[in-house]
Amino acid sequence: MARCWLLLVFMAFILPAANATPCHPDDLHALRGFAGELGGGGALLRAAWSGASCCGWEGVGCDSTSGRVTVLRLPWRGLAGQIPGGSLAGLVWLEELFLGSNHFVGVLPDELFGLVKLRKLSLASNELTGEVSPRLGELTHLTLLDLSANRFSGPLPDVFGDLTSLEHLAMHSNGFSGFLPPSLSSLSSLRELNLRNNSMSGPIARVSFSDMPLLASLDFSTNSLTGWIPTSLAGCGELKSLNLANNILVGTIPSWIGEFDNLWYLNLSNNSFVGEVPKSLLRLKGLATAGRSSGMVFINMPSFVNYERRALDEQPNTITGTNNTVRSGRNNTMSGNDNIVMSGDSNTVSGSFNTLVCGNNNILSGDHHVVSGSNHIVTNSFNKVTGCTNNVSGSNHTVSGSNNTVTGSSNTVSGNNHVVSGSNRVVTGD
Ligand SMILES: *[C@@H]1O[C@H](CO)[C@@H](O)[C@H](O)[C@H]1NC(C)=O
Ligand SMILES: *[C@@H]1O[C@H](CO)[C@@H](O)[C@H](O)[C@H]1NC(C)=O
Ligand SMILES: *[C@@H]1O[C@H](CO)[C@@H](O)[C@H](O)[C@H]1NC(C)=O
Ligand SMILES: *[C@@H]1O[C@H](CO)[C@@H](O)[C@H](O)[C@H]1NC(C)=O
Ligand SMILES: *[C@@H]1O[C@H](CO)[C@@H](O)[C@H](O)[C@H]1NC(C)=O
Ligand SMILES: *[C@@H]1O[C@H](CO)[C@@H](O)[C@H](O)[C@H]1NC(C)=O
Ligand SMILES: *[C@@H]1O[C@H](CO)[C@@H](O)[C@H](O)[C@H]1NC(C)=O
Ligand SMILES: *[C@@H]1O[C@H](CO)[C@@H](O)[C@H](O)[C@H]1NC(C)=O
Repeated sequence: MARCWLLLVFMAFILPAANATPCHPDDLHALRGFAGELGGGGALLRAAWSGASCCGWEGVGCDSTSGRVTVLRLPWRGLAGQIPGGSLAGLVWLEELFLGSNHFVGVLPDELFGLVKLRKLSLASNELTGEVSPRLGELTHLTLLDLSANRFSGPLPDVFGDLTSLEHLAMHSNGFSGFLPPSLSSLSSLRELNLRNNSMSGPIARVSFSDMPLLASLDFSTNSLTGWIPTSLAGCGELKSLNLANNILVGTIPSWIGEFDNLWYLNLSNNSFVGEVPKSLLRLKGLATAGRSSGMVFINMPSFVNYERRALDEQPNTITGTNNTVRSGRNNTMSGNDNIVMSGDSNTVSGSFNTLVCGNNNILSGDHHVVSGSNHIVTNSFNKVTGCTNNVSGSNHTVSGSNNTVTGSSNTVSGNNHVVSGSNRVVTGD
């Protein structure tokens, strides 16, 4: 996956080089002006951008029929200074502008909002400041807008009603404040909405999600949003990831969250919810974690840790607390009581009254477990073990199945081919 992505990025730089026709004089003038105003890595860019065939320049893409510059893709170039708005304004055909992960400072130049053909605009991970102008609403063709990880502040302009083509909207890790703009509700093409880590306040229900049938990822975490989880979210059947952690949300966790068949990440931690985690969450098929580096910790959260999480390059999970459910999980560490592991392998389970159904190579300690499967190591007492090749020690277990090794005392062993030592009672079998 990562390799494919690299290849694509690589090709994005290579492909325009094949196009060596001279470019439109207005575009050439604009690009030279743009590069001329840049600090930092701008010197390298000026060196790389020689000649008059700008369509072949690194990071520049042109439309094959009109020959006009439509793409400017210059992330990770060490570019510094203000965004040269005056020069950019000359690129009137520009559809994609990627200037992320540079060192741009200052406010968004007003000329940016005159580039009305823009479909994709990413300025993420710079040091941009100030408020975002309501003129943002003039970029009506945007499908992607990423202003994340800058130093923007002030309220979000309530102009999203004009941006109905937006599919990806990311503005996380800024200092945006104020209420959620209600016009976000009209983003009917939206797939991803990320306002994480800002200072947004007021009711979360100022946004209605009822007209966002494609919404797959919603992250409002680490703000100061209030109110109940909006019921308008219930219709977002494509939801894969929902993060509302670190807000001031109240009420109960709605049972309809259990009906999102595709949900694999849910984080509602650090809010002010009351009551039980609804049993419907047990129905979630794919709920796992979004861990990027280390395994995740679920506390008192019934969670299906799906085998598919391997595809997400995730680490084994640590599951603590009570009444958690892991399905098809591997290499998880579980502690606490009343947990259920179904079809999980290589888990470490401690606590009591846990149930392991059909797993292999698990290590169990504690009491009153129900264990089936094979190659478990079971210690302590009062476990019910079925399956084969388990190593059972301790006392008062009930062991059935075959080829188990049972030591300890007062165990009841049935089945075949067991090796039984200690003061145990072999009920049936050999
Ligand atoms: C949150 O955003 C601030 C900028 O407002 C940034 O410095 C910080 O690293 C972000 N934190 C996380 C966890 O993303
Ligand atoms: C919980 O969220 C609040 C913001 O609502 C934040 O200030 C606090 O640090 C968070 N606590 C934890 C433990 O993350
Ligand atoms: C949930 O969100 C909180 C706050 O951002 C974070 O500390 C925690 O690691 C997250 N939990 C999971 C399971 O991702
Ligand atoms: C776990 O769930 C079972 C059955 O739903 C319930 O009887 C038990 O009290 C729960 N345990 C805890 C610690 O909540
Ligand atoms: C899971 O555990 C097995 C057996 O202990 C080990 O061979 C395997 O590498 C582990 N996988 C991961 C992803 O940790
Ligand atoms: C059973 O497990 C115990 C504890 O892990 C270990 O000492 C013992 O050698 C094992 N016995 C067999 C037959 O695998
Ligand atoms: C375990 O079983 C033995 C024999 O059935 C019994 O005497 C003993 O009391 C049991 N241990 C406990 C802790 O119940
Ligand atoms: C159990 O042991 C018997 C005899 O030692 C062997 O034939 C059989 O294959 C074993 N079964 C399993 C499931 O390991």
